[in-house]
Formats: sequence, structure tokens, C-alpha cells
Amino acid sequence: MFSQNRITLFQNQPTPFYVYDLGLLDQTLAACTAASKSSNFHVHYALKANSNHEILSRILNSNLGADCVSGNEVKRALETGFAPTEIVFAGVGKTDAEMLLALANDIFCFNCESLPELEVLAQLANGLNRKARVALRINPNVQANTHHYITTGLEENKFGINIHELPEVLECLNKFPQIELIGIHFHIGSQIMDMNVFKSLCTRVNEIQEWFASRRINLQIINVGGGLGIDYYDVDNNLIPDFKTYFDIFSKFLTVRPGQQVHFELGRALVAQCGSLMSRVLYIKKGVNTNFAILDAGMTELIRPALYQAYHKIQNLTPSPLASNLRYDVVGPVCESSDCFGKALDLPELKRGDLIAIRSAGAYGEVMASNYNLREREKSIYL
Ligand code: LLP
Repeated sequence: MFSQNRITLFQNQPTPFYVYDLGLLDQTLAACTAASKSSNFHVHYALKANSNHEILSRILNSNLGADCVSGNEVKRALETGFAPTEIVFAGVGKTDAEMLLALANDIFCFNCESLPELEVLAQLANGLNRKARVALRINPNVQANTHHYITTGLEENKFGINIHELPEVLECLNKFPQIELIGIHFHIGSQIMDMNVFKSLCTRVNEIQEWFASRRINLQIINVGGGLGIDYYDVDNNLIPDFKTYFDIFSKFLTVRPGQQVHFELGRALVAQCGSLMSRVLYIKKGVNTNFAILDAGMTELIRPALYQAYHKIQNLTPSPLASNLRYDVVGPVCESSDCFGKALDLPELKRGDLIAIRSAGAYGEVMASNYNLREREKSIYL
């Protein structure tokens, strides 16, 4: 929750804006580091969740690596000061220019998702007279029990190399001396709350590792991706995710061979809870069955509710004189019916000018903002 001092500070800021609690970010990073301190575990932060400079420099100071999915994310990581040896580059559609940039900077590893991509990477590496270290992203066909838009590890998804394609991929790799196979990579989805899913992933990865071992292929890196979820409902009681349970599952269930490193690519779990989108009520409009509270922030600032029916806790930071709650649909100003943060919510009475916090918005919030309707891009403040 926000202290009165912070609320007073917000009163003078034009809305909408994002606010980040860097103290909470530091505590979250410390908890992650403490829980992953096993010498063969290493976390790369997924920049796609939030790539603001202030956030990235804290992450760099915590000795995490960087997981990038575009040439610009690789550039951002380098500008922030991440060493090339700490950068991995993933993505199903890397362009030639992006791969050239990453090769020229000799990043640690490309997570490759298809045979055609490997062919192009080999050609480009050859042209630069460089070697590309590669982890094969394998689609393990494991159900992540999360929203279908953020499920990535099933055969029906566009991601990764299917297991039946592996013999052909290995055969081709033998023809590409520019490519050094160093590991295998998985990512089955995001906002995973059911820890059993990670156990199933371990079981599957163990089987797949056997397949490589039986062909005498030595893998230095097992990258299990990201996906650890956060509590969007009981936010203040769960500001820091349960990193211990998460890493313990991998310690217990993943078979790690001598000399192997286990890599993780966490995004949301590290940054979601430290960010809130702040907004003001513009109008209260009477509907037939509900009241509409129309905010000055909308899907342009935070698209998750419109895109995934995602829940974000909404709090009125302005005290209400009424003791009982009223029912509202809390909506944004954009000309789309999906521009809605929550339907039939029971909230203390809202009035024009009230300051509203939309919580747990530090991950996939600002990075997914747009200026649809030619709206101004929001500002950010750091506490
Ligand atoms: N590694 C790979 C290969 C990924 O595709 C992702 C996320 C991550 C790591 C980080 O996952 P995390 O730890 O943050 O769950 N915009 C959606 C989430 C999309 C996630 C895409 N991939 C949302 O707002 O829920």
C-alpha cells in the first residue's frame, strides 16, 4: 500500500503515469538471488517485461544476465552495461540485421527456434568469420495451465523445435562449423501459478537430456525459461514471489550433469509488483446496471485487461466519505469496448478527480503501451 507521504507526492503529478518502487525491486532481486544461489543456477532477466533504464541498472547491479528478444533489446542491454557474455538472444523471428548485431557483439548465446533460422545464422556467422553459440529451443509439449495467449510450450504454438525434428536438426548442425551447440532451451508460458507445471517441465527436460546423452552430445546449458507468476489479487501480502519454492523444484527434480549450468529467464516475477499505473477519475457516468468510472488511463497505458482479460487490483487512494461500496465498471477513455480495467467491481465511492492506483503493472505494462488515438505516452516516476 502507499504511505500518506507518497499519496501527497502523487497529488501534484499529472496523470496517467507509472510509478516504480525501486526499494521493493531491490528486495525482490535480493530474494531471487538468495533463493537461486546454487552455484550452477544463473538468472537472465527477460527485458521484454520492462526495459526502463532505472529498472535495468538495478538488475545489472544484482548480477543477473539479460534475456533479449530483439536487436534493440540487445542494444539496450549493452548500453546498460551488461557484458556480452551475460546476454542471450531469443525469438522466433530474428531478422538478419538483429543477428548480425548480436554476432558482432559476440553475445553469449542465441536461443534458436527452427532449422531455417539456424541456416541463416550459420551463413551470417560465416560472413563475419565468427562462431555462434546456440541453445536449441525445444517445444516440450507441456501444458502450462495459464491463459492460452501466454501459453507457449504446446505443439500448436509457433515456438521452438518439435522433438521429432531433432534428428534432422542435429544432422544439419554437423554441416555448420560456425555453430557451436551449447545447450537446450525451453519456455512453456507465463504467469504460471501451479508449481506442478514446473515439475512436469523438469521431467520432460530430463527425458530430452537423455536423448542427447545417448548420442554423446554434451550440453553445458539447460535453460528452463521464465514463467513464474505473481499474485495479482492479494498484492500487498504477496509483494515478493515465492522464489524459494520455485528454485527448489528445479534443484530437486531437474537432473543436472557435472559441469552443466541451469539458466532461468524470469521477467514478470522480478518487476511486476514494483510498478503501478496511476490515474484519475474523469467522469462517473450512470449506466443501466452499473456506474461507469471513466479514467484518464486506458488500454493505451495498460493493455493486459483488454488483451488477456487480465485482472489488476484497482485502488482508490482518495478517501471516500461513504462507508459502503458502490458497483462500477472501471473503464478507459479509448474508443474500444475492450478498454475496460474491470467490470462490476465493488469499490468505495468514486468521484471526479479521485486518484486511482492500478497495481502489479510493472511487468508488461509500460513496454506494451501505445499511442493509439494519438494519445500522449505516459511518464514514469521512481521512488
Ligand atoms: N523467456 C521467453 C522465451 C519468453 O517468451 C518469456 C515471456 C520469458 C522468458 C519471460 O517470461 P515471464 O517470466 O515474464 O513469465 N505480455 C504477456 C506475457 C508475455 C510473455 C512472453 N514471453 C502478459 O502481459 O501477461
